[in-house]
Amino acid sequence: MLRLASRRAALPTRRAAVRFLATKPPLPPPETMPLPAPASIPLPPPSTPETATAAPVAPPPAAAPATEAPPAPTPEPLVPKGDAFPKVEIPKPSAPKLLEIPPAPPVLHEAAAAGRGAASRLKSLLKSTLLFLGTGALLVYAYDSQAGIHRWVIQPAFMALTKDDPELAHEIAVKILSQNMGPVDCGKDDESLAFELWGKKFDNPIGIAAGFDKHAEAIDGLFNLGFGYVEVGSITPEAQPGNPKPRVFRVEESQSVVNRYGFNSEGHAAALARLRRRVLKFVSDYAALLPPALFPEQPAHAGIAEGFDPVEAYLASKEGSGAAPADAVGMPRSLQPGKVLGINLGKNKVSDPDSIDDFVKGVASLGPYADVLIVNVSSPNTPGLRNLQRKGMLSELLEGVVNARNLLPTSVKPPVLVKVAPDLDEEQLSDIAYAARTAGIDGVIVSNTTISRPASAGKSLVLQETGGLSGPPVKELALKALSGLYEQTDGKIPLIGCGGISSGQDALDYAKAGASLVQLYTGFVYGGVGLPRRIKDELAELLKKEGKAWKDVIGSGRPPKKVAPAAPSAPATDSPAPSQPSEEDFNKGLTEAKEELEALFKELARVDKTDAPIASESAEAPVAVAPKDAAAPVAVETPVPAPVAESIPSPAAEPPTASAAAATAQVPPTGAPSPSDPAAMPTIVRTAPKPKIDETPLAVPAEALLDEKAIAALLDPAAAQVQAGKTSDPQAGREKLAEAGEKANPLKGDKRWV
Ligand code: FNR
Repeated sequence: MLRLASRRAALPTRRAAVRFLATKPPLPPPETMPLPAPASIPLPPPSTPETATAAPVAPPPAAAPATEAPPAPTPEPLVPKGDAFPKVEIPKPSAPKLLEIPPAPPVLHEAAAAGRGAASRLKSLLKSTLLFLGTGALLVYAYDSQAGIHRWVIQPAFMALTKDDPELAHEIAVKILSQNMGPVDCGKDDESLAFELWGKKFDNPIGIAAGFDKHAEAIDGLFNLGFGYVEVGSITPEAQPGNPKPRVFRVEESQSVVNRYGFNSEGHAAALARLRRRVLKFVSDYAALLPPALFPEQPAHAGIAEGFDPVEAYLASKEGSGAAPADAVGMPRSLQPGKVLGINLGKNKVSDPDSIDDFVKGVASLGPYADVLIVNVSSPNTPGLRNLQRKGMLSELLEGVVNARNLLPTSVKPPVLVKVAPDLDEEQLSDIAYAARTAGIDGVIVSNTTISRPASAGKSLVLQETGGLSGPPVKELALKALSGLYEQTDGKIPLIGCGGISSGQDALDYAKAGASLVQLYTGFVYGGVGLPRRIKDELAELLKKEGKAWKDVIGSGRPPKKVAPAAPSAPATDSPAPSQPSEEDFNKGLTEAKEELEALFKELARVDKTDAPIASESAEAPVAVAPKDAAAPVAVETPVPAPVAESIPSPAAEPPTASAAAATAQVPPTGAPSPSDPAAMPTIVRTAPKPKIDETPLAVPAEALLDEKAIAALLDPAAAQVQAGKTSDPQAGREKLAEAGEKANPLKGDKRWV
């Protein structure tokens, strides 16, 4: 109304302007340029209402010849005659005549309008119903990760659209899954796929490897796709941006990927916040089923009382951190029965390459939320990281991490795994086997990406990019490393196979080589959301053909063991019959033993001379070769090295280091072999002194490794402040800390480093 009024008010002004223009002195005459006369278009004579009624659909009467056309309308000059403007004649617009619609007789018009109205209403109702039902049906259909639309339409379109920016594709995929907007695996896992490892139940052995969900955002979205194991990370203590972009490249011809992300991570604080939110949601959803001890404020546990806030009560309790509610009811920390959550720990780029601090910090802060912890020493994109795979360093690192795990103040201690590269030679593999056994870790993931470029990767120029290669070309390397490690550890340490898995057959190949569980990443990039279900179905089919379950095929493809002729051990029920060693093997063993003996005597002489402890680096001197054959199985199964190794005065009689003693004193994770359970562990014949662990450089105060209070302080600083009498309100303390954390963390909100 107001606008109308103001428009109206403006009219006189406009009229005045027109009048002003009309009385303006004429402009000097420009060159006269008469416009061509407008073509005269004959118009049909206007139909009267009568003719319209009589013959509404009759064709218009034939156009009269041009000569008979009504005279063109007399052009009206723009300005009064006789003025000096050029004679620009603008024909009177005749078009409106064409647009004129003859009015229908009032009665008919109303009836037709009413009919048309009802029909169009019905039409639009039908349309919206169809749209609604169609969308619903599409959503129901697309809800299933197996729907063809994902594999044949969405995935190819998504790949094509993000061809030049694979990192964007990664980011979008994680976002969708983190919002629980991804599809769901609607199938049921075949019983043959179920197994137990580290005392934890797995519905199936297919996992998503680290690197996809780097910041622990999409855990539930990934479980929904049917993975039995989700590994998040690698997570570094402090947030760091990683390498400059571009840093991920697809190699379509071999369905592989080259990446040099360089541990882009939002840091422990951000991941911790997300993990904590999941646990609090679990508390809120299942409060009535959780033990009352978790809610000391709740007087009686007869259901949840009106107005009682279980989350608040839980947070205020001494258990208010970690995944204690899940632990209390025997639920995995994944918070989903039959599924397991792994947290992969990385190292900041600016940290001392040789230091283990970052991993210990990871154990302390993220350990209480993890079913499994993984120490990643094999990313090719962090300078110096792979050096940690060297024997002396690895033993030290793993012992430190295992100690920190043992000291976690939680009832459940997560198994600790180490993830290694596929580019390891025999000797490096034996170093890893040795370190794994001596440090008492619970498993090895084989493998990370490769720095090599196997011929099977193709010839794409992208392969010249710096970074780790993943996908099918890694399979051969990883399989070889895995079976080597399985041999060296005699199958006593669980192995996780990873590298180039994208089918049921791939998974089975790894299992036969000794993998208890498998993981994939690149296969998921190319295969899309339906891949986990497809692999599971294929695998179940293959197992059915063999008449076996997953747990029966683990390690079943390894070559037959060699057994000493003097003391042949009874063949295990599920392993092939042992073969007698040939004379050639026997002589080879003898020569190797001789060489080892010589090396050992040399080393002992050197130690005697210097009278100094053997530093961790020197453990890589010739004597370091010994562990290759020094493991118990060798002592039992090969004819020569065993007596030799046992006859050597072993420096194992040395007093154990403080950390080793602590490790032995601690309770091992459920079901995991541990140093305190000799029956479960292979007997280790030490041929070199155990490297001394120097704990002084740990960023986490050294006492934190031995003091529960310090660990608790790391895990829940707010609670620690309450205990220390610095504040009386833990919730307020937490909020303050969260606020401070958010301020300190520049990556809050939606901004992510992917
Ligand atoms: C990875 N990978 C990886 N591994 C890890 O331990 N921490 C990490 O942060 C990452 N990041 C990462 C990013 C990208 C883009 C890729 C492709 C891979 C390695 C991954 O977990 C896996 O070990 C290898 O990719 C081999 O498996 P696939 O991809 O051949 O199935």
